[in-house]
Amino acid sequence: MPPEGRAAELLESAYQELRKARPQGAAHYERACKVLPRGTTRARYWEPMPIYVERAEGAYLQDVDGNRYIDCNLGQGALVLGNSHPAVVGALRSQLSRGTHFGPATEQAVALAETIVTAVPGAERVSFTNSGTEATLAALRLARAVTGRRKVAKVEGAWHGANEYLLFSFTTLSGPLGRVDANVDSAGVSHGAIADVVVLPFNDEAALSRIREEGPELACVIVEPVLGGAGCIPASPDYLKGLRQACDEVGALLVFDEVVTGFRLGPHSAAGRYGVAADVTTLGKAIGGGQPVGAVCGRADLMELLVAPRTGVGSRAVVGAGGTFACNPMTVAAGRAQLSELLSVPGHYERLEVLGDRMRRGLTELFARRGTQAHVTGLGSMFRVHLTPTRPESPRDLVMANGLATHLLRVYLELEGVLRGMGFVSTAHTEDDVDRVVAAYDAALGRLESEGLLETSREPVGSTP
Ligand SMILES: Cc1ncc(COP(=O)(O)O)c(C=O)c1O
Repeated sequence: MPPEGRAAELLESAYQELRKARPQGAAHYERACKVLPRGTTRARYWEPMPIYVERAEGAYLQDVDGNRYIDCNLGQGALVLGNSHPAVVGALRSQLSRGTHFGPATEQAVALAETIVTAVPGAERVSFTNSGTEATLAALRLARAVTGRRKVAKVEGAWHGANEYLLFSFTTLSGPLGRVDANVDSAGVSHGAIADVVVLPFNDEAALSRIREEGPELACVIVEPVLGGAGCIPASPDYLKGLRQACDEVGALLVFDEVVTGFRLGPHSAAGRYGVAADVTTLGKAIGGGQPVGAVCGRADLMELLVAPRTGVGSRAVVGAGGTFACNPMTVAAGRAQLSELLSVPGHYERLEVLGDRMRRGLTELFARRGTQAHVTGLGSMFRVHLTPTRPESPRDLVMANGLATHLLRVYLELEGVLRGMGFVSTAHTEDDVDRVVAAYDAALGRLESEGLLETSREPVGSTP
């Protein structure tokens, strides 16, 4: 790490470069700071300012200053077909002419639910929400109602949206693996939520003994099959199978949060890929084709608690759910268009694998060639670069990441015309786009190296993709 003064100097000079490349964006950000908290609606913003987007098409995004970026953020992962896919745009146009929001039901929503039930292991019924956060909230509520138990277990490093009951230990990780601390990661969380959460280690069998220990009080275990926000780290198959078995033993529900991985990692999502079915699955992102969406799905006997019984005056659902815009026709139109393109046109998922593998292989070879202490994680069309001494298998391994270089890497990638985000490719990306992303990493790492910010070794390093 360079001395503090030098670090500040490097940051400021990179930020100046970005501001210079984006004069209109910088002016928008100045206005934004007067009306949005710290100039943004997101909990975290990308220093020194967000990219102000003008338009996006396919694998590319253009900002208001005319800068073009290869888009590896893809609407936080929602756009599996890339930006403005003609099938999605066409479906939205057609729906627009017939109405954008109705209270009653539509046949199209039934068809979207049928697609989900056919594709997602263990899904017999689907209930739509407006966001992934609402879906994870509904899943926990359902699990408590079904089991009559209070506690929910989550994995450290996992992000499940701004969900009151799960805002724990996604950035602050501590405690021995057998008894991980439940660190509150947001001020204002209710004391009830604190008392009711158990945090489990990721990819470690200590999680299983903890589940058995907490068993009689545990309503559910919620897990992302690939830890997305914590760096695209896939669960080991044994870990997911172990969670399934431990949940069955103690009578807790297993909830897969597939908001990111659903319909991205394959036609049957991560569950199909791993061969492990959850009792309840949360979906989002891809099923909305770029419109706001979430869904909770699972066994029929559980899911039916979300809706009031048909008979009986004033009958009420056992579990509260629903929402004014849930299942809105624009979302349904875009979601159906994206899913039907992905599922009915042969070759899309194979292509996503090819591109994801090419990205991971290209980056691994780059690190080896440069002798950079870096590793790439991910699965299918998801990838993430870590400036760590070893390949991270859990978020704990990220503590060793080179913080300043990691931060500047993102800024330098933007200056090289790559919007990194969590790290996704879409069917709209080409091999050439992937190679250009790798070339941008090469340039960005070269710059970090010349600034003395990178650990390099004469022996080639890197991880196998
Ligand atoms: C795994 C996971 N679950 C839930 C959410 C929350 O979804 P939303 O942002 O749509 O509320 C996210 C958001 O990125 C996520 O990554």
